[in-house]
Amino acid sequence: MTEIVTATPKGLYLETFGCQMNVSDSEKIVSLMSELGYRRVTDPALADLILLNTCSVRAKAESKVYDYLGRLRLRKLKNSRLIIGVGGCVAQQEGERLLKRVPYLDLVFGTHTLHLLPDLVLAAQRGERRSSTDFIETETRLNLFPQAADTGELTRFVTIMQGCDNFCTYCIVPYVRGREISRRSGEILGEIREMVGRGAREITLLGQNVNSYGVKSPGELHFADLLREIAAMAGIERLRFTTSHPRDISPELIACFADLPKLCGHLHLPAQSGSDAILDRMNRGYSRTEYLATVAALRRARPALAVTGDIIVGFPGESEVDFQETLSLLDEVRYVDLFSFVYSERPETAAAGFPDHLSRGVKQQRLERLQLRQREITQEICHGLVGTVQRVLLEGVSRRGDQLTGRTDANRIVNVAGDPGLIGQVVDVVISSSHPNSLLGELL
Ligand code: SAH
Ligand code: SF4
Ligand code: F3S
Repeated sequence: MTEIVTATPKGLYLETFGCQMNVSDSEKIVSLMSELGYRRVTDPALADLILLNTCSVRAKAESKVYDYLGRLRLRKLKNSRLIIGVGGCVAQQEGERLLKRVPYLDLVFGTHTLHLLPDLVLAAQRGERRSSTDFIETETRLNLFPQAADTGELTRFVTIMQGCDNFCTYCIVPYVRGREISRRSGEILGEIREMVGRGAREITLLGQNVNSYGVKSPGELHFADLLREIAAMAGIERLRFTTSHPRDISPELIACFADLPKLCGHLHLPAQSGSDAILDRMNRGYSRTEYLATVAALRRARPALAVTGDIIVGFPGESEVDFQETLSLLDEVRYVDLFSFVYSERPETAAAGFPDHLSRGVKQQRLERLQLRQREITQEICHGLVGTVQRVLLEGVSRRGDQLTGRTDANRIVNVAGDPGLIGQVVDVVISSSHPNSLLGELL
């Protein structure tokens, strides 16, 4: 391998789409490619290698990738030595077909084959076009978990599990990420210890379904035990995790919200719908009543808990009455923020074959009604924060450059005047006003 490491590094331009899983895989890609002599560049014109780490969760995310590739065609015509590769979830879904569909594409790698990327790039340097998207469902996959790069940042993400076994009927993730597998807790704790040593103060644990961490691994810690171990580490100020499946919120996890002050008072708990009939057809494994009971139990443990969620509108067969139930769920839960999506039909998923798909117009109109209601709720909650004292981890200088910026325990952005020397500290801030995307405050 050594002969290809050139004195002048080659340029890698990497574009990441989709969720935190891809962001964390991209870190791994950068470190793998640096071993081949590639250094990351921010201008695609300076690249010898362009990689897209893609998302396939909705049709729109997938078409974005093809649009992007279309724009790269000209670049390749001008520079035939440029290597173009696609990885991530669209690559996993399409495999070889991508090479056929995009004739100037050089390589395709899957969500389980990051480690083969250097070989694929070497082959591309020799003019070979290759695709490698096999799934690895054995212990070997444990070695493929992305190790975070040495960035010394204050807030870090740590992948603790990958894949999903839930098969919600609308969702492509289990098909493009494979079965659930949990990383060994010893490794996770070791990585976090190193991050804290390099200055990290806030850790977010990542997985498609973190609550089922360790359940399939005999002798492994369960999620609540893992949280307790991490919270006990010196140097850590804050701990977060995402994403949680409502069905898997255990009493042990709820107890963590009561017992662990470092565990932030924010939980992303996607409901997807407020209608029992739709939840059932989505294969979510809980009813509206069960979901609300879980939220209530969490709020008994942590009264100020900020809950965020995901909702899909226009699932096949969703009636106006079903939709009304989703609207009323927003009023009952009072999400501080909501990610809402129009149902998008995905290949291989069960719901693609369900009857009564709704028209684009109906779906769009429901989305707008939902978002209107949510905007009101978000505003009401944020106005309610004015005058309160919030604990804020100061993360840097605000975008306008004249203030410090950080986030509350509940993950709202706060801007505040102060000395940049405070960056990295958790401070008390009195909230003075609320704006659509942030809060303004004063140091106490
Ligand atoms: N594992 C996480 C995230 C899954 S993808 C979880 O279970 O919550 C993120 C969100 O995308 C989902 O919560 C869902 O709201 C949305 N989503 C997934 N598939 C979709 C589809 N086919 N159409 C529209 N939205 C979808
Ligand atoms: Fe998709 Fe459901 Fe798994 Fe989340 S839990 S990734 S929505 S199948
Ligand atoms: Fe998208 Fe793949 Fe994440 S489909 S949401 S990048 S797991």
